[in-house]
Amino acid sequence: MPAKILVLNGPNLNMLGTREPEIYGHETLDDVNDAIRRRADELGIATDCRQSNSEGELVTWIQQARGQASAIIINAGAYSHTSIAIPDALRAVGLPVYEVHLSNIYRRESFRHHSHISAVAVAVICGLGLDGYLCALAAAAKAAG
Ligand code: DQA
Repeated sequence: MPAKILVLNGPNLNMLGTREPEIYGHETLDDVNDAIRRRADELGIATDCRQSNSEGELVTWIQQARGQASAIIINAGAYSHTSIAIPDALRAVGLPVYEVHLSNIYRRESFRHHSHISAVAVAVICGLGLDGYLCALAAAAKAAG
């Protein structure tokens, strides 16, 4: 069975393409997920791409990943800066976590400079737009062997 990577996007990332395009780019979430699936096919891995505006739903999906996925790529959006429940769930399942942000959060408002997820993550990729997900995917696929 090929490795399966769970790709999670958090609140407001369903608005990609129209949401502050000068910061987040013109690609929609469908564009992002299509690019991820194409690269995953090339790498011979499976992906499960999901988005939710709800913290609780993200927590539930993380919990359900145990035994189902070999790694989690997550852009938790604003929950990165506020949620304790999401990193707690990530710790609980113990899967390798790759944290992605489209924008360079360190060039932005100071409240975006800290992510609670980073302490749980194998790697943090920010500022590369869509390519950040593809970098995380390549790293997760390599680690999964
Ligand atoms: C984001 C950065 C967050 O600060 C913001 O709240 C988002 C998107 C990013 O991808 O750059 O929603 O995670």
